[in-house]
Amino acid sequence: MTNEVTEEVWQVLHETAVDAMKRAYAPYSKYPVGAAALVDDGRILSGCNVENAALGVTLCAECGVISDLINGGGGRLVAFTCVNEDGAKIVPCGRCRQILFEHSGKELLLYMPDGIQTMDQVLPGAFGPADLHQITERADG
Ligand code: THU
Repeated sequence: MTNEVTEEVWQVLHETAVDAMKRAYAPYSKYPVGAAALVDDGRILSGCNVENAALGVTLCAECGVISDLINGGGGRLVAFTCVNEDGAKIVPCGRCRQILFEHSGKELLLYMPDGIQTMDQVLPGAFGPADLHQITERADG
């Protein structure tokens, strides 16, 4: 499974995330984050966190990645990484795991601080589009 994404591609993702982190707007937490993802068509996307004086409406770096994905025509995420100011790998927050799951599914590879894990490992039993589909089917039946 982890063979599908080469070391070279992980390196490009890491560098892209570090680059995005440098553009973060994080005056309140002073914790800039950069994220990058590989799409199934080969595109590489990135995002940075964008904070707000109304702290609760802060956009995580992952939101930028997903905005980039949809605005660029959509697709499925294959690999993902995010970094802090030191360029160290960090874990995506719970909300962002859910946001990423919508556009990847269980197989997404995430470069966590301890190594590569799948979405299924970091968000087991996730609620997703298929669950809504079941409700629609029940309503129709
Ligand atoms: N942050 C992200 O951008 N992504 C995450 O997955 C974790 C947290 C940002 C939000 C906030 O601007 C800062 O990190 C501190 O929480």
